[in-house]
Amino acid sequence: MSEQQGQQPNIPANGALGNGHRNGSNGNREQRSSGPNGPAGAFSPRFAQIVGWGYHVPEKVITNFDLEQIVDTQDEWIRSRTGIEERHVAAAPSETSASLGILAGRAALEMADVNPNKVDLIICATSSPEHIFPSTASIIQDGLGASNAGAFDLSAACSGFVYALSMARGHILAGDAEYVLVIGAETLSRIVDWTDRATCVLFGDGAGAVLVAASDVPGGITATVLGSDGSGADLLTVPAGGSAMPASLETVSSGGHYIKMDGTAVFRFATRVMAEATRQVLGKAGLGVDEVDLVIPHQANVRIIQNSVLKQLKIPEEKVFINLQKYGNTSTASIPIALCEAIAAGRIKPGDNLVFVGFGAGLTWAACAIKWSVPIAKPEATWWRNTQRQATYQAAAARSMWKRAIRRVYSQFPAESRWGGRKEEGEAG
Ligand code: COA
Repeated sequence: MSEQQGQQPNIPANGALGNGHRNGSNGNREQRSSGPNGPAGAFSPRFAQIVGWGYHVPEKVITNFDLEQIVDTQDEWIRSRTGIEERHVAAAPSETSASLGILAGRAALEMADVNPNKVDLIICATSSPEHIFPSTASIIQDGLGASNAGAFDLSAACSGFVYALSMARGHILAGDAEYVLVIGAETLSRIVDWTDRATCVLFGDGAGAVLVAASDVPGGITATVLGSDGSGADLLTVPAGGSAMPASLETVSSGGHYIKMDGTAVFRFATRVMAEATRQVLGKAGLGVDEVDLVIPHQANVRIIQNSVLKQLKIPEEKVFINLQKYGNTSTASIPIALCEAIAAGRIKPGDNLVFVGFGAGLTWAACAIKWSVPIAKPEATWWRNTQRQATYQAAAARSMWKRAIRRVYSQFPAESRWGGRKEEGEAG
């Protein structure tokens, strides 16, 4: 169920989005001297604009009534305590955080009409990575055919997407990147204990992505606030499987590889930091609470949103976007999925002041203020453009397979013959 919400941001073909953009992307890094850190006399302000967006959720939907068949719970309890009605779950083994992230990333690139090989950096925020390493971002990079991109995962739990936006903004303002693809991708259903009613009713799977581009159009991501309080690390955790408690028969039999949570403590923390972080980021952006057009909060629990953004900040309901009833808490994917749906629902227009605010394990919290500056216009989905895109994806898959095949063949030969008797640089012995 792929979605390319919202519309083509009218990026002029000649690159009117930014000076760096005009210089082209990869291969032109040495020319990118016009950022705030550029040489004297070449100063030209850069801005970090969201120019593409998209999401993907698995087909399979599990309703609260379905959960009644699995654990001792009731639709009424879940609805009244959380606001959640259903969630999407990655039922097929082929649906992983990376595969969902690839589809969301493609949708964001298509929305912006930017070729994957133009992307300089891919940041995947995830709480359910494919592996401890390699990074899910690298697998996504390969799947997208983003052959000129660096890639890394960002671990800040449900605050991760806003953390990643902050990193993207930093790279762009420093002149180090023209295009950064920021993805939140989750298959939390794989790390949820389906016998624990206190957690399994809360989470869902999905991925959302935005393409952040260098621009000389004022606005975009204007301010960010990042926070952490590791003294609360034990309140929301997957205790086993890392270096502190390596996976063993014992950790698996005791369920140490599942999400453990003190729900009440997390609730209390969340209501406090959501309001505080929103206030702080608005202060940094020089905005008053009444100047906000739309808040997109992390979609964990409707009561958290009500008790923080609505009650403490007195932001009216029509200025807060909520879609958690359909998806549950998709962790890092919740804000980008909500952004896509808000755009599709006509809730965002150029000139709007937006706030994204999230919280999560760590404990962490994060907020960013955005002056939405790109027009919302539908990209033309011509037959030729679609064919080109499909060819790009097939070429990426073929290139990846070819590289793997070459490595397999190569690995059949002893190291000496591989390197003509020479040791590879850095090779021991
Ligand atoms: N169905 C039915 N009853 C349930 C239940 C379920 N799925 N889960 C818990 N209960 C029961 C509890 O056992 C408890 O029963 P008891 O009073 O007999 O002991 C009762 O409901 C109340 O539990 P409580 O934990 O006080 O409920 P709550 O109103 O605090 O809501 C959460 C629980 C988890 C929904 C809420 O604390 C929460 O949302 N916390 C934040 C979690 C979160 O957002 N985590 C992700 C962060 S990114």
